[in-house]
Amino acid sequence: MREDAMKTIIEPFRIKSVEPIRMTTRPERERCLDEAGHNLFLLHADDVLIDLLTDSGTSSMSAMQWSAMMKGDESYAGSPSYFEFEREVQKITGFKHVIPTHQGRAAEKILFTVLHKPGSVYLGNTHFDTTRANIEFTGAKAFDLPIPEGLVPSQKHPFKGNIDLVRLEKALDEHGDKVRAVIVTVTNNSGGGQPVSMENIKKASALAKEHGVLFVLDSCRFAENAWFIKQREDGYKDKSVLEIAQEMYSYADATTMSAKKDGLANIGGFLAMNDDELSMHASNMLILTEGFPTYGGLAGRDLEAIAQGLREVVDEDYLRYRVRSVEYLADKLEAGGVPLILPAGGHAVYLDAGGFLPNIRPEEFPGQVLANELYLEGGVRGVEIGSVMFGKRDPDTGKHVAPPMELVRLAIPRRVYTQSHVDYVAEVVLAVFARRESLRGLEMTYEAPFLRHFTARFRPLAQTVAR
Ligand code: F0G
Repeated sequence: MREDAMKTIIEPFRIKSVEPIRMTTRPERERCLDEAGHNLFLLHADDVLIDLLTDSGTSSMSAMQWSAMMKGDESYAGSPSYFEFEREVQKITGFKHVIPTHQGRAAEKILFTVLHKPGSVYLGNTHFDTTRANIEFTGAKAFDLPIPEGLVPSQKHPFKGNIDLVRLEKALDEHGDKVRAVIVTVTNNSGGGQPVSMENIKKASALAKEHGVLFVLDSCRFAENAWFIKQREDGYKDKSVLEIAQEMYSYADATTMSAKKDGLANIGGFLAMNDDELSMHASNMLILTEGFPTYGGLAGRDLEAIAQGLREVVDEDYLRYRVRSVEYLADKLEAGGVPLILPAGGHAVYLDAGGFLPNIRPEEFPGQVLANELYLEGGVRGVEIGSVMFGKRDPDTGKHVAPPMELVRLAIPRRVYTQSHVDYVAEVVLAVFARRESLRGLEMTYEAPFLRHFTARFRPLAQTVAR
């Protein structure tokens, strides 16, 4: 930090354009939630006051990004906007081939399609839901190998997102040439937005290489991860975030990226790699599913917004404010005794719904109950990451198989909310915490075969009994 800096970490921007948000009453929210089948994904966003559903695609763009969009060249082939985008991606990642996609999951879909062989296995710290779903859709299996600390919400660890290297080596030996890739997600979103250390990336990459396996970074939040490395890992204090990011990517063979996060853009993503043959297959698949290789699934103006976003996201004043504003919310909740994943993640605070609502069994969806109550209490929308998102039914017994943690994520959009919005969110969480014993579980009344959390519908159990 600069020596003349004050203690207060401010938003390093001023606001040029504002967007009103709509206050609602509790009876209005009760009606909205009922109509949405008690699934916050099915709400109309203008019935939400503070929207912490995701940090994806929800960033405020800068004046520089808006002006870059005016330069967007919409040529079908060879657009200068693509070359601008390619240059920025290459500066950070060092990869030879840069394939633009409409968002992160399109990059995943292409990668797992071209890598697929019967019986394929993928190993990772924690696969994000779309990553896992795209892997499983090809018929392959995905195994999560987080370090043990990563599964204990209250246990602090500077790099709680790390992959367990002992289990990784064992799994590489066990599955042999079935393993198509090791995927390290930075930061580890499903594990609490927790960073992965450079040492862990380097060692996991070395293990993958020893076994002749592709090493992939799912790098949506690469800049936040690099900032944590700079703050917490020996030897990185004096390196720039850009240099740290470049080193992270230097250990990878490929990356999938959703530019809707650390691209500071509202849409977009890419797949990048060094291997010529893999890239050729991926480009052919891109043409089939997304578009010509110099625009992928994007307009030229989107490519410009991402290129400028990538320049801005490695700014250290921005990252200091970004990570501190998330930690500020976690500090307030921790002081109030609310169970949550500690330390705070880079893009979100994760409430430990299992600890918050110990009386609600996983099959009655404690995370969903908590997320719904935050909406009813104050119009705050978070997202369940627990039994709804990752729970399964045992195919033989039909019984619920719970994931390791029941969480509610409060994801903070980039450059959108101010400190008083965050104070308000803390007040809402604390109010629900005070009446936690009165809360009851939910029953799922509809589920889709894939990614069921987006469209599932629920019925409150207490009401079912009363009827
Ligand atoms: N990988 C990670 C780690 C993610 O967090 C996401 C998206 C994706 C891949 C897929 O990217 O949405 O552009 O297709 N995460 C969002 C979230 C949806 O809310 O965390 P996408």
